[in-house]
Amino acid sequence: MNKGTLLSAPSLDSLQIAWLQEIGLDRHMLARWAAPEPIVTESLPSAVGQAVPDAVTATAPVDSSAALAALSMVAPKLGLQRAATVVPDTAPVVSPVPMPQDWQGLQEHAQSCLACDLHLGRSAVVFGAGVQESPQWMIIGEAPGASDDRSGLPFQGKPGQLLQAMLASIGVGLPVALQKGQSASTDDNVLRSVYCTNVIKCRPLGNRTPTAEEIAACMPYLQRQIDHLQPVRILAMGHLAAQALLGLDASLDDLRGKVHQMHSASGRMIPLVATWHPATLLLRPQHKVDVWSDLRLALSISQG
Ligand code: URA
Repeated sequence: MNKGTLLSAPSLDSLQIAWLQEIGLDRHMLARWAAPEPIVTESLPSAVGQAVPDAVTATAPVDSSAALAALSMVAPKLGLQRAATVVPDTAPVVSPVPMPQDWQGLQEHAQSCLACDLHLGRSAVVFGAGVQESPQWMIIGEAPGASDDRSGLPFQGKPGQLLQAMLASIGVGLPVALQKGQSASTDDNVLRSVYCTNVIKCRPLGNRTPTAEEIAACMPYLQRQIDHLQPVRILAMGHLAAQALLGLDASLDDLRGKVHQMHSASGRMIPLVATWHPATLLLRPQHKVDVWSDLRLALSISQG
């Protein structure tokens, strides 16, 4: 787009209008986009220039403001200085896409999510499992693996077994209900007060690393999960989870070994410890000592 070019109000057919309304926009709002001068994006690579509109408008489940926030979180990973520069500085007030606030609604929304192409290859949406009321631990991995995709539950394969062993080493057990695929209550032993989920809810085929667009599309679910659960502490398993949650462009070596304060979407500060992903430990068991020390650090966080 040339500098100074204004977006004019598009002419829309009824199907397009219905679709835009579904994602929270309407003709009136689009017309307002003609007013402010958009910021030029010439310096951005084309894939990046496409990233924000795709994430925002892809399909109904994407919450545009949250997706932009998520993209700015993953921007450092892509070497982006200003991922949001495709949005005018005087961005129109866009009403948030109606993503349910309640837990059941959110879960159902996720189950039918078509926000990115990962829905094409999934057997199940792996929303998460465990204690749903202020769990002591919210464990956030990267993305479901093959066994998780089959069962619909996170951390079911070998990385899950290792995670279970690592938690057991500090006296924490996964909720029995998680293992049975049911939700758990706070009555579950406090040392089993764990909720497990991932940044990405659908399995990337071949277990490839999720793309920035996939992360941005899925992040609104995780943000709402965090806000709803209000965990005492978050354990980010692996580089991708740590970077996506903290929005810091740093190596896992730099991010682990300390307690971060993560800003939740609703403005709460939640202590977060990052550590190696169990799949990494399967390849590099020498990092187990780091994980043990990170887990003990997380355990030492007192309930605020
Ligand atoms: N299984 C998950 O649920 N998450 C991971 O990050 C790895 C395996």
